[in-house]
Amino acid sequence: MTILVTGGTGNIGGALARLLQAANYPLIISSRKGVAEPFKAVKFDWSDPSTFENPFNADPNIDRVFVIAPISGDALEQTKPFFKVAIEKGVKRFVLITATQAEKGDNSQYGKVHEHLANLGVEYTVLRPTWFIENFGQFSHTIRENDEILSVTGKGRIPFVSVQDIAKAAFDALTAEKSANTDYFVIGPELWSYDDVAAALTEVTGRKIVHRLISLEEQLASFKLWMDEEYAIELNTYEGRIASGIEEKNVGHPKAITGKHKLRDYLEANKQLWSKA
Ligand SMILES: NC(=O)c1ccc[n+]([C@@H]2O[C@H](COP(=O)([O-])OP(=O)(O)OC[C@H]3O[C@@H](n4cnc5c(N)ncnc54)[C@H](OP(=O)(O)O)[C@@H]3O)[C@@H](O)[C@H]2O)c1
Repeated sequence: MTILVTGGTGNIGGALARLLQAANYPLIISSRKGVAEPFKAVKFDWSDPSTFENPFNADPNIDRVFVIAPISGDALEQTKPFFKVAIEKGVKRFVLITATQAEKGDNSQYGKVHEHLANLGVEYTVLRPTWFIENFGQFSHTIRENDEILSVTGKGRIPFVSVQDIAKAAFDALTAEKSANTDYFVIGPELWSYDDVAAALTEVTGRKIVHRLISLEEQLASFKLWMDEEYAIELNTYEGRIASGIEEKNVGHPKAITGKHKLRDYLEANKQLWSKA
């Protein structure tokens, strides 16, 4: 048995690879460069189907695959032929990351991939995380440079989840004796509004950090600067729904996996990320 980790150089995939290695599961990572030290890795690009057999040529024992779907282009068109190749090569189980608001079979990029995977007749789990705690580090420039968090979310709250907790949910789904063959929300243990986060960042950094509301149009324009239009529109819609409490509803949901890591601990441990120096 070998587990293929696509997106293994990224946030969730990297954390998952470390968990698998610590538990002595054989793994291989795919990445566009084909390098993911200290792990074995192969070249793989969603936009280039000629790379889809590379993992299986490098390790014929791959029977489980963790999937971070592409974040540009048509996700279903790109993943569909890969699922086919993987099943032909002996893969029995897939674990796919989508998002809380991407419903199976809806018209979203990830909703379509979810539906396709569920209809393949293989073992699968779809994990639908809410917003990541680590976003505050990855998209830190407005906090660092202007002392503000920009959002369209109003007073809406989010059970921010850590990448470690998402990786743990993926680890469990990949290694469980029996596959769940369903989807789960993956959320953190506490609800936070961006006002709450701004107040916590004010305490952590010692500078006044504010949450400034922007319009959906402003947000969409900024998303379009760094992502495909269709993904930008989807993410803008998802963000817009937070104000009405859509992410709060997942707390206590029977299909929610609730992580342990807390946002405040992340802010304390990484305060240098928002330092002006
Ligand atoms: N951030 C959030 O709040 C949030 C919330 C819910 C869901 N999500 C979902 O979570 C996922 C992001 O997870 P993440 O943060 O772990 O990702 P990430 O850190 O952004 O990493 C993306 C990974 O995908 C790989 N990749 C990118 N383009 C590729 C391509 N054309 N072919 C093959 N591999 C490619 C990258 O590898 P190389 O560069 O090495 O090729 C990298 O390993 C997305 O599906 C996103 O929609 C995010």
